[in-house]
Amino acid sequence: MIRKKKAKKKLELLQQEFLFAVIIREKMEYLENIWNKGKDFLGVKTPIIAGAMTWISDSQFVADVSNAGAFGCLAAGNMTPEMLDSEIKKTQELTKNPFAVNLITIAPHYKNHLKVAVENKVRYIVFAGSFPRQPEIKTAKASGARILSFASTESIAKRLINMGVDALILEGSEAGGHVGHVSLGILLQQVLFKVDEVPIFVAGGIASGKYIAHLLLMGASGVQLGTYFVLTEECRAHPKFKQSFIKAKARNAISTPQIGSELRIVAVRALKNKGHDQFSDLQMDLIQKRRKNEISLTEAQFEVEKFWMGALRKAVQDGDVEFGSVMAGQSVGLVDKIRPIKDALDLLIQETNLELVRIRKKFQDIKPYRSI
Ligand SMILES: Cc1cc2nc3c(=O)[nH]c(=O)nc-3n(C[C@H](O)[C@H](O)[C@H](O)COP(=O)(O)O)c2cc1C
Repeated sequence: MIRKKKAKKKLELLQQEFLFAVIIREKMEYLENIWNKGKDFLGVKTPIIAGAMTWISDSQFVADVSNAGAFGCLAAGNMTPEMLDSEIKKTQELTKNPFAVNLITIAPHYKNHLKVAVENKVRYIVFAGSFPRQPEIKTAKASGARILSFASTESIAKRLINMGVDALILEGSEAGGHVGHVSLGILLQQVLFKVDEVPIFVAGGIASGKYIAHLLLMGASGVQLGTYFVLTEECRAHPKFKQSFIKAKARNAISTPQIGSELRIVAVRALKNKGHDQFSDLQMDLIQKRRKNEISLTEAQFEVEKFWMGALRKAVQDGDVEFGSVMAGQSVGLVDKIRPIKDALDLLIQETNLELVRIRKKFQDIKPYRSI
């Protein structure tokens, strides 16, 4: 009896999935319409941004993403200006599709990075790290580039728009890498629901099309994912780095605590390992040096960034996932399979569309409420 019931349920589910597969082929226009603004702004088929990842997002990976119809971002953070120049040129050769250069405003070579990006007439520049200054935005725009910047509050968003930023990225603290303090759920209400002058792309904790559908309905023009793209065949991170993503649970991706208040640090979300503990030791050491006036605050913060750059390289390139920094978002708990970029994107697109169809059906099925 129980077995019969189970078989019936399974058949019903299969029929439902078949029906959705048919509907989905016909109703792709829901999705096409809903993310039109993001498509137009980025000039792509699929307004899904593969967020820049230092040591990972090089010319080949960025071109692979952009050639698959999504939007790649070249990570300048770890490069000398000469390397960046050559990587931009290589990307331009490998893809005719749009991509961005991600500039970290607190990186040691930032000013020269900007100069190189402008000289190469890159079509999109993403300012990350902290907020770009007015003259920097002006210089970037004068070269013809479209500007994206991270915003963390409504007032910062408005200020950036007034300064000429063309689109915003809202990144929740669930994300991997350097993170703010506020989760995406709050940022959506603080910024996305209040700002509609420019396209807004949202990031942090996204790893399913079902979630993307709801974010688009809330007003996002597109999304940015990092952790999800690490588990693609084209991502050339060390196999051990990818394996640790496959094994990890969401709760293993924790953000670094700040020790005391003497040294302000930007938190980093990564898988907890011995490298995490080493970072606490580094902070203590730097605080001691500060107390003895042996280093300035800027030098101390620079040491912190140098630590992360080296620790991330150790994990991504050498596969040292014990002492290196395995930067990952909490969405690491939602991914467990390595796929080609094209399949990874197709999956997100199918899921997003399926969810939009489901939502529409849900509304059609709602009967008007009548009190007895
Ligand atoms: C390994 C790693 C390195 C990253 N490096 C950068 C970077 O260089 N510049 C940047 O703006 N964001 C960086 N990020 C953030 C991503 O671009 C993206 O915004 C973030 O991963 C989105 O959150 P998710 O991981 O939950 O998808 C990095 C993230 C990871 C996981």
